[in-house]
Amino acid sequence: MSKSKGPKTIGILTAGGDCPGINAAIRGVGKTAIVKYGMKVIGISDGFTGLITKDYIELTESHLSGILTLGGTILGTSREKPFKADGKKKNENAKPLLIKEHYEQLGLDCLVCIGGNGTMKNAFMLSENGLNVVGIPKTIDNDVWGTDMTFGFDSAVNIATEAVDRLHSTANSHKRIMVIEVMGHNAGWLALYSGMAGGGDVILIPEIPHDEDIIMKYLKKRADNNKPYSIVVVAEGVSIPAGEVSAGRYLAKRIKEVTDLETRETVLGYVQRGGSPSPMDRVLASRFGAAAANLIAGNNFGKMVAHRNGEITSVKLSDVAGKTKLVETDDPMVKQAREMGTCFGVC
Ligand code: F6P
Repeated sequence: MSKSKGPKTIGILTAGGDCPGINAAIRGVGKTAIVKYGMKVIGISDGFTGLITKDYIELTESHLSGILTLGGTILGTSREKPFKADGKKKNENAKPLLIKEHYEQLGLDCLVCIGGNGTMKNAFMLSENGLNVVGIPKTIDNDVWGTDMTFGFDSAVNIATEAVDRLHSTANSHKRIMVIEVMGHNAGWLALYSGMAGGGDVILIPEIPHDEDIIMKYLKKRADNNKPYSIVVVAEGVSIPAGEVSAGRYLAKRIKEVTDLETRETVLGYVQRGGSPSPMDRVLASRFGAAAANLIAGNNFGKMVAHRNGEITSVKLSDVAGKTKLVETDDPMVKQAREMGTCFGVC
């Protein structure tokens, strides 16, 4: 489904949870497509929703100026999953069909999907339906399979680390245990990196099931050894009893109950996703964007751009779809943190 002659027309959409660096990626694709290849660039509104409703604008160079440092996404986003059955069997293909129809009406030669795991899965399914698609991985969770790093992650690590740093001084003044819950969905990358960067005494991640007894004994021992305070960094995705709504709140409650040590919790929340991208994320997002435009120019579709072993490359969307990149239990970072005495709630 590609026009044979003349400069290409490409669509760009941003889907799933936002993160710092999306606008840098839009700018990277758009500017390379326009400046280097003379392509026409269409910005689709609100993720896959905009392709279903045909809501879009043409992006010129002026739309792409001044957005490198902006948080969020100038295109808007949504969690629309066009292939998800809505219960009405006869309409199951309605959204994918509308997307295909609008892709053709807009004269697109390729659709660039900027998003996380869910977006890559939808991008792959669209490519299976005959659309030319290129994916760009973004998320603060860093859990997209096939790339060592997603953009958004470094900014979120900076924000979470600053929060942990700030908790140290107030914890010390009041001689308290401070529990901080960070995002990450089902992955522990953000907790692991911000925990290590911020010198968390306890780091809990979903990939390493923890034993509460071990955590309690560890915190008690620190208090008995005249350590005036402790910092516990917990990923939102760690397992908690049914009925509990927040890992951080639950854990702080349990620590108070079991150890009798004064404990407070902070649930960091959406500040981790907001605001301007870090310089590292600006660079990664820009390079991903440029790489995506180059793939399109070479008719190299059905791929996701990736960062592997220090290089910008690409992987097949068919290999990425449906997978999640989690922290391995024997990850060298986990091993090194444990060797420094950090508690992961395991023996
Ligand atoms: O995937 C990014 C993320 O921020 C996760 O860390 C978090 O679990 C989720 O999105 C929150 O989703 P929502 O924006 O739908 O509340």
